[in-house]
Order: sequence, then C-alpha cells, then structure tokens
Amino acid sequence: MAKGKTTAFFCQNCGYESAKWMGQCPACREWNTFVEEPVVKTTGTKTSAAAGSTRRMQLQEPSRLVSIKPQENLRISTGMEELDRVLGGGIVTGSLVLVGGDPGIGKSTLLLQVCKTLANRGKKVLYISGEESAQQIKIRADRVGEAGDDLLILCETNLGDIREILERSKPEIVVIDSIQTMYSESVNSAPGSVSQVREATGILMQLAKVLGITIFIVGHVTKEGVVAGPRVLEHMVDTVLYFEGDRHASYRVLRGVKNRFGSTNEIGVFEMQEKGLVEVPNPSEYMLSGRPENASGSVVACSMEGTRPILVEIQALVCQSNLPMPRRTANGADYNRVNLLMAVLEKRLGLRLGVCDAYVNIAGGIRMNEPAMDLGIVMAILSSYRDKPIDEKTIVFGEVGLSGEVRAVSQAAQRVQEAKKLGFHTVIMPAVSIRGMGKIDGIEIIGVRTLKDVLRSL
Ligand code: TYD
Ligand code: MG
Repeated sequence: MAKGKTTAFFCQNCGYESAKWMGQCPACREWNTFVEEPVVKTTGTKTSAAAGSTRRMQLQEPSRLVSIKPQENLRISTGMEELDRVLGGGIVTGSLVLVGGDPGIGKSTLLLQVCKTLANRGKKVLYISGEESAQQIKIRADRVGEAGDDLLILCETNLGDIREILERSKPEIVVIDSIQTMYSESVNSAPGSVSQVREATGILMQLAKVLGITIFIVGHVTKEGVVAGPRVLEHMVDTVLYFEGDRHASYRVLRGVKNRFGSTNEIGVFEMQEKGLVEVPNPSEYMLSGRPENASGSVVACSMEGTRPILVEIQALVCQSNLPMPRRTANGADYNRVNLLMAVLEKRLGLRLGVCDAYVNIAGGIRMNEPAMDLGIVMAILSSYRDKPIDEKTIVFGEVGLSGEVRAVSQAAQRVQEAKKLGFHTVIMPAVSIRGMGKIDGIEIIGVRTLKDVLRSL
C-alpha cells in the first residue's frame, strides 16, 4: 500500500486487501465484494506488542520440554458430549473458539445452553450479546435447559467497554454473540466490516490469552458459505467450528474445521427441539430412520466422520431423459464426484447412463464427502438403473477409482463394527481392506475388487 494512504479496499468475503477496487477478488474469486475501508495501522502491531509484553512478563527463558508440567484441569467439559468431542475433549482454558453458521441455525441457542450448564457448575460465565436485549435472552433461556441462575448477561457492542468489564470482573468463560455486531472505537468503519472484525478479534484474542479467559465468538456465515467478511478470523482463533444442517430438517451438525487442541473433522450431531438443542448420541440410527423397504436405488453407506463411523442412506433415481442435456443433481454428495462415478460406470460396465437423468441424494440432508462413500453412490445408481433393490441389511463402503477398481479405505473394522451394532448382516467392501481385519461374528463380508464384482454382488 502507498505510504500515507488511509483507506484501502477489502474483500468482505475473505479479507483480501487491495489498493484499488477490483470486480473479482483474486484470493477467493467472489465478485463485487470489495469495499473501501479505513486502514488500521495499529491492528497487527498493537496486538503483537501487547502479547509481547505479557510474554516478557511470563517467560524469561526458553525451557526444556520435559520440565514443563502439564497444567491440571486444562479442559472443562461443556456438559454436552457431542460438543466436547468436536472441541477435542472439552473447552481449553484461555482459548478462542469461533462458532460459525448460517443465521438462525442455532448458534445462540447452543452457546446459551452451554453457558447455563457451566453456570450451574459454579463457573463464572458471561454472555455478551450485541444482537438481542436482555429480555429476549431471558425468554430464550427460559425455553432451554434448567436453571443457570448465576449466568451473567450483558448487552454491549463497544469493545473498549467490554475489555474494561472483563478486566474488572474476570469471568472464566465469555460468549460474544456476534463478532459482526462488535466495534472498536479505534477503527472508523462500520461493525461487520473486515477491519472491524479483524480488530475486534485481535482484541478478544489478546484478552483471552492475557486474562486466561475462554472466549466463544459467534460469527454469521454469508450466503457464500464463509463467515461474513472475516475468513480472516479463521487463522486468528484457536478453534473453528461450523454449525450446519438443513433449515427444514431438525438435526444440526457441528463440524470442527480447525483445532489447535484436538483433531478436526469430528462432528457433533444435535436435534433442534422445542426446548433447544438435544444431543443425538447415535447419529447412524437417527439418519437411517424412515428408510424405504425393498426399494431400488437405496443403499446404506458408511462414512468416517473423525473417529466415528456414521451410516447414512444414499438414494439414487436414474431414469430415461427427455432432455437433450440429461439432468443430474447431487444432494449431500459432491456433484462432480457423482458425474465422475457415472462416467466410470458408463465406461467400465457399459451402462447407457449418458441418456439418463440421475438424482443422487444423501437422506437427511447431511453433507458427506469421504471417498469411501463412492461405492455407495455407485451401488445406488446401479440399483436404480437395473431397478433391483439391494438387501436392506447390507452396508457398503469403498473408494472407486477411474479404472473401475475398488480401492482400500481406512478403519474398515470400525465401520463393520458399527454395521453390526445396528443390526446389519452383510458388508460389501474393498477386498484389499479385508486383510488385517479379524473375523467379526454374525457379519458376512463380501470383498469386491472391481465394479464387475460389484455388479455380480447385486
Ligand atoms: P438461534 O440460536 O437464534 O440461531 P443463530 O443464533 O444461529 O442465528 O436459533 C434460532 C432458531 O432455533 C429459530 O429458528 C427457532 C429455533 N429454536 C427452536 O426450535 N427451539 C428452541 O428452543 C429455540 C431456543 C430455538
Ligand atoms: Mg443468534
């Protein structure tokens, strides 16, 4: 940026900064996202200088790894096992957690429930809202969960004031709902703009680390699917969780996208009910409820979501097309992947899919992109194309390659165990993954090497 310039253009989607206005962002490829904003020269230096001064106070010497004692009670359980798992085993003291999601998906509800539970356990919890009045929060709080009378509520959007309050009252856990409503007086632009959100997160990060407070930040996702303006936020915080789900279905999936203190790709499943969010401890059962009987085009597949196998029903409908360009849709599965698998089927098995419409759907609206879902998609399409139902006590998993080979997948034994737990008795899986897997009683395992084997097993 030119010296002495006080404004710059920021992509509201990803935070990319440019001296000139641009129609398309070179970083995230979104159109018309550039807005002129004042430049905050202090942001980076201020936070790092502040962090530096605390570091100077606390750490004088580098120390040997062995001499560092693990801190006790570093993790606090949230009282929700599903949330604990996504967080990597509970809340880490002094961490900054971003909870993103579409407006109305249930972020405020989830965090309010967590706050109430923690307040009940004697933690000092402060819920700061810039979106709702204290009365409105009270109405919601009365709806969800038990008591939580000691929970502190504050309606405030000025970060200077929030900083003072936090320094004075030293709560253990703080929720900021939402980052897009917060503003710092040192920045001239409007709340929700890239520079404000960046500055606000910087201040909160500093407060979390200096005061040892765990801070949850709520961030709204725009229609493009990233937290409004600030993808900048993602790299500043310790943990990023996204809350997703079909607005019309009642279940919600909380997905870990980044976690400095645990594994990512874990998911937590919740159901939105009258009285707030309820955990779904056995998602497979939940996802498979209401499955059609003896219908062609339906098959149960298994996807590993973090450490947990989840069974879902894949449905396909393949029919003769009346259009010059056959229609294809993919719901919950990757559209390009479905097209690729159909091309493989056409080439390797000689099916005439090019003249067929095809609709693929993962029942329940959950999004799953693990390659192990390939075989499920392929079998659902085959089953619909041939109009042959697949035995309903069968599950399938495996990756399909371009030559029509069925490739190995990880954690095969765990997937088979899950199938057994839910009363399935046949598993169709990659032959190469069977090796090294002990025998599992009551389950018939059919190993397949190529799509030809798959066709035979149908
Ligand atoms: P909310 O937490 O306000 O969403 P966000 O903070 O992510 O914008 O969720 C609001 C939705 O949840 C709203 O559509 C109503 C629904 N809801 C319930 O179904 N039951 C409940 O007990 C509560 C509190 C909300
Ligand atoms: Mg909200």
